[in-house]
Amino acid sequence: MSNLERTLVILKPDTIQRGIVGEILSRFEKKGFKIIGLKMMQVNREVAEKHYIEHKDKPFYEELVEFITSGPIIVFVVEGKNAIKNVRKLVGATNPEEALPGTIRHDYGLHIGKNIIHASDSKESAEREIDLFFNIDELVEYKRIDEQWIY
Ligand code: RTP
Ligand code: MG
Repeated sequence: MSNLERTLVILKPDTIQRGIVGEILSRFEKKGFKIIGLKMMQVNREVAEKHYIEHKDKPFYEELVEFITSGPIIVFVVEGKNAIKNVRKLVGATNPEEALPGTIRHDYGLHIGKNIIHASDSKESAEREIDLFFNIDELVEYKRIDEQWIY
């Protein structure tokens, strides 16, 4: 299959606290994306700052770092056709008030600072972020039995 990509997704602390991890993961599975690595963790300030380096000078940066370090998160790597762009579509616009119905941020959120989920926005950030959260031996190569019915 061409255009096979990997991207990093984070279920932010609000998702765990609200008990909707299963529902959100289910959307990725149903879409046909393959989850090839997944773990729960709580990130420290150092990792959070590395992850959000591009936002260092933004007014919401401090709030962002505090939020992502405030409780457990789920990080996972998604593989699939044009996964970077297609996962961003599934996630929806940054502000849940602007996200379209059917997207995760629209369907589960109301406020930009508590927008449920993160997804890498480019090939470069996907590679960087996967590398930040996963060791290579934590990613699993396997075939999903329904792949021939998805592609
Ligand atoms: P993400 O990185 O979380 O996938 O979100 P994104 O690409 O759609 O948005 P980005 O511009 O990268 O912003 C990162 C996160 O910062 C928070 N934010 N707050 N208060 C604000 O104006 C504001 N703007 C962004 C959001 O939680 C966003 O997900
Ligand atoms: Mg972003």
